[in-house]
Amino acid sequence: FFYPLPANEPVLGYAPGSKEKELLQKAIQEMKAHKADIPMYIGSEEVKTGKTVSLHPPHEHHHVLGHFHTGNTAHFNKAIDAALAARKAWAELSWANRANIFLKAADLLATKYRYQVNAATMLGQSKNAYQAEIDSACELIDFLRFNVHYLGEIYRQQPISSPGVHNRLEFRPLEGFVVAITPFNFTAIAGNLPSAPALCGNVVVWKPSDTQVLAAWWVMKVFKEAGLPDGVINLVYGDGPEFGNAVFAHRDFAGVHFTGSTRTFNHIWKTIGENVAGYRTYPRIVGETGGKDFVLVHKSAHADAVVTGLARGAFEYQGQKCSAASRAYIPSNLAPEIKAGLQKALQSMKMGTVEDFGNFINAVIDERSFDKIAGYIDKAKNDPAARIIAGGTYDKTAGYFIEPTVIETSDPRFVTMCEEIFGPVLTLYVYEADAFEQAMDLVDNTSPYALTGAVFAQDRAAVERATHRLSHSAGNFYINDKPTGAVVGQQPFGGARASGTNDKAGSALNLYRWLSARTIKENY
Ligand code: ALA
Repeated sequence: FFYPLPANEPVLGYAPGSKEKELLQKAIQEMKAHKADIPMYIGSEEVKTGKTVSLHPPHEHHHVLGHFHTGNTAHFNKAIDAALAARKAWAELSWANRANIFLKAADLLATKYRYQVNAATMLGQSKNAYQAEIDSACELIDFLRFNVHYLGEIYRQQPISSPGVHNRLEFRPLEGFVVAITPFNFTAIAGNLPSAPALCGNVVVWKPSDTQVLAAWWVMKVFKEAGLPDGVINLVYGDGPEFGNAVFAHRDFAGVHFTGSTRTFNHIWKTIGENVAGYRTYPRIVGETGGKDFVLVHKSAHADAVVTGLARGAFEYQGQKCSAASRAYIPSNLAPEIKAGLQKALQSMKMGTVEDFGNFINAVIDERSFDKIAGYIDKAKNDPAARIIAGGTYDKTAGYFIEPTVIETSDPRFVTMCEEIFGPVLTLYVYEADAFEQAMDLVDNTSPYALTGAVFAQDRAAVERATHRLSHSAGNFYINDKPTGAVVGQQPFGGARASGTNDKAGSALNLYRWLSARTIKENY
């Protein structure tokens, strides 16, 4: 079967007085009022171990949203067994039936569960209504629908045959089980990382971040209601290293679909390396990791476009997108206008809970993250090479609130220009307006990452030069736009260097990694 290219799911605006706003607020209130008791899903069982971790909205950390039941090595091994038991029937199910399950899940997300999944993302991950809508509604729905289209295209790719000879490619699932490890910051990633391999006929053991469990649970319930057979995706929670030790030591481990920190991915890679002789087959290792995403401004840029790009690119979702702008190189001729524009933009950003839809800024994910980000702000406060030009305060009394902060530094290698902060902190370095080449060298050499980046320029020669010079500095390169907000089907997403294996999410390039092709030649 071939599935035509879908359209992107339209974004709801949640305007004041709209029906959709009323429904989303109702879902939020209901979710706050009923404590969730969240099981693991292992084969046909919903497992409650009694060993629970409670869930709190990061913007209101005294409130309890419910709890989830954590597993140990025995549960992780049971999840592997359940996956392997489901493997044969799932791989043999027709492609149309596999596709229809995930297309139905997309429809359920678009209609029946849109407000609940958005509410879970807003409360569990402290994401405002608009950011939740473009993540847990639109992007997740798009991943599911576009992946079906792309996989249909892959299956159609067949070799040539000749008289008396018929050749074909059989795109088998991997021989074993796939591990999905998902981060707190996107519910769409939570849905995509297990579902992309499963769509290709694989069975999956999925562990989300502890701070994402509420939304992950809703996504899992949608998959089940859409008809996903027991054992195809098994959802477990628990200690990361204990989980890793169980799944990566197993003979039938066939691949990992990971999004998270570079450090964790390096550890996973090492663990896989240590176990490699024991596997039935070489596993697929697919990871999207950190970023230190840049905005490079040329002297010909429009300053107001730069201000909008920086304000949104650095501070939407509190800068907790792996794609967030976190270092900017500003030419001296535009620096006064851009700095003043940013200060003004930040003054208008309201900060608070997700329930007030007027709040642009909510809380950062947890105390550990809060302390780390605050530590970077303090470094800027205490170093003569840096000064805070906007924001700079933080308070964790009621929620983990960090004011959007802009640092200016005279040292292009100041710590906040180099290290990933994963919070609402942007650092500016002003370069002499004619030194564009040197600025590009800094962009390329200052950080080990290469996820996203943007150049702002009106001069076509500068755009062309930057596109060429920075060809390996980012996997997603934006011209006169912020470096965040990739849309499935429009900007396939991922980066290389320390940012991952660049197996573009939301494209055929990713799906190929979950397929193992067999070439069949037949004489007739
Ligand atoms: N895909 C997300 C973005 O582009 C991370 O912002």
